[in-house]
Amino acid sequence: MKDIFIGHYGLDQVGQTMTATGWVANIRNHGKLAFIELRDREGLLQVFVDSSITDFTKLQDLHKESIISVTGPVVAREERFVNKDIQSGQVELRAETIEVISESKLVPFELDSHAHAGEDIRQKYRYLDLRRERMTKNLKLRHQVSKSIRDYLNQADFIDVETPYLTKSTPEGARDFLVPSRVFKNQFYALPQSPQMLKQLLMGAGLERYYQIVRCFRDEDLRGDRQPEFTQVDLEMSFASEEDIRHLVEGMLKAVVRESMGYEMTEAFPVMSYEEAMTRFGSDKPDTRFGIELKDLTALSQGNPSLFLQKGLKAENGSVMGICLPKGAHAFTNRQMKELKEATLDFGVAGFATATIENGELAGSLKSTFKEHRTELLDLFQAQDGDLLFFVTGTKKRVQEALGGLRLRLAKALDLIDDSQLNFIWITDWPLLEWNEDQKRYQAMHHPFTQGDFDDLDHLKEAPEKIMSRAYDIVLNGYEIGGGSLRIHQRQQQEAMFDLLGMSKEDYQRDFGFFLEALDYGFPPHGGLALGLDRLVMILAGEENIREVIAFPKNGQGADPMLASPSLVSENQLAELKLETLD
Ligand code: AMO
Repeated sequence: MKDIFIGHYGLDQVGQTMTATGWVANIRNHGKLAFIELRDREGLLQVFVDSSITDFTKLQDLHKESIISVTGPVVAREERFVNKDIQSGQVELRAETIEVISESKLVPFELDSHAHAGEDIRQKYRYLDLRRERMTKNLKLRHQVSKSIRDYLNQADFIDVETPYLTKSTPEGARDFLVPSRVFKNQFYALPQSPQMLKQLLMGAGLERYYQIVRCFRDEDLRGDRQPEFTQVDLEMSFASEEDIRHLVEGMLKAVVRESMGYEMTEAFPVMSYEEAMTRFGSDKPDTRFGIELKDLTALSQGNPSLFLQKGLKAENGSVMGICLPKGAHAFTNRQMKELKEATLDFGVAGFATATIENGELAGSLKSTFKEHRTELLDLFQAQDGDLLFFVTGTKKRVQEALGGLRLRLAKALDLIDDSQLNFIWITDWPLLEWNEDQKRYQAMHHPFTQGDFDDLDHLKEAPEKIMSRAYDIVLNGYEIGGGSLRIHQRQQQEAMFDLLGMSKEDYQRDFGFFLEALDYGFPPHGGLALGLDRLVMILAGEENIREVIAFPKNGQGADPMLASPSLVSENQLAELKLETLD
């Protein structure tokens, strides 16, 4: 084992004869002398090789990424040759002997950090990709983040408990990954989408404070911030208020930032209601690093005969809203404007229009539309000459989401976001239920175990969408990095919730009977939260895809090109499971 990583060599080693072992990151052979950049986990070390040493010939056909062991004295570099970009830059090793430990073939792509390689080739040769500095750095950051989390929770008297991966399929979530049982014919285990019910049962078991850094599995459509298997920091507490839980998680995230990013966040995280987030930012996970907030023009548009406005107002919950892009009048070409329009209309809104401000007036097709309300409108947007206004009409929620999406597009396109900021924000006061138009029923906005304001249930059943929940999300830079709630801990309320979700007594007895029964045996009030570890690390690492912070991720199709998984299995295996495949 190494006493010291070669990337850590420095003036302390000067004068000592060392044996440095690592990968050849680069080699410059000038004939009479050669320089090797030797790499290990912790960084690079320059090795100087004079042609007078016997082993010089070993360098002749040596490919990059071979592993060598070099012995010789460490010397200080002359001031003008100091390399400030690497930690060992003040020294170099003068080779006396070189041993080739493991030769490498020509690698299929360049490993230096600036080189671009296709996604699939990187994943096929993931062990090579992980040698790149950026990837090693990301894995180290991930390790540091998990360590900070464990340290923090251990200190706060949480107990780390493992829960099973072979569990039971239950409705009300994303699609499950199923595992056929060999022993129980035609029956399947499901991989957990989260250990939600199990962690609640651990509260029933009297553990009081539980956590687990745990893998979860969801067969969903993939996005840059989603993987089919991902990791949650899952926690649950008994006898805790919403504020207790938020306070604890906030402290944990601050410790993570302090220990992995090296700076102290002293301010309390802002808290914003779901309603306010949708109204101001058009998103339940607002990126608050920039402005461009939504303005509601619905009241101002009532009675206006403009077809553009009336078409939107006619929609159910019809609304007119807009955003103002300061100094945006000439920011986009016609083609870009067309793309922005198409992307906005894709949200299912009724209308989209733009206007610029010239000489204190609205210019463009909406000039006469808003004539009467010109001052009011300009005040609302605080618009000035040279600004660009966007107007969207249609169903309220769609209009909000469309403008929320547009807001992000504009900020990204014009580079308005300060990447150095970490804007955490709590989103609270969520509705308990949302209407699922396809299935014509209510579904839980978080999950069916979330505590709601159930005080006047009979009355509330008449307007389920008005029931508020005790849920909270934690958002960072426009990503939902975690969510949780106080939970239902009384059987009667849990059954009422299943009723609200349109489940029959038989259905919920079959799927959740064991859980309902547990509530009969002295179940404490409790609540918790789960953080998406991959997402959190992705943001801290400044990456845009969570693949970059996962050692062996799935690609965009959910496959692993290195393992060539998923794969066909043998007829015997299928026969044992009593399964047949279709063509
Ligand atoms: P939720 O479903 O909101 O809550 O998940 C919690 C957090 O997990 C992360 N996450 C994902 N990360 C990567 N890929 C995915 N496919 C993926 N899906 C979710 C997100 C999210 O905020 N049991 C509840 C938590 C609770 O109530 O305690 C739950 O799983 O960052």
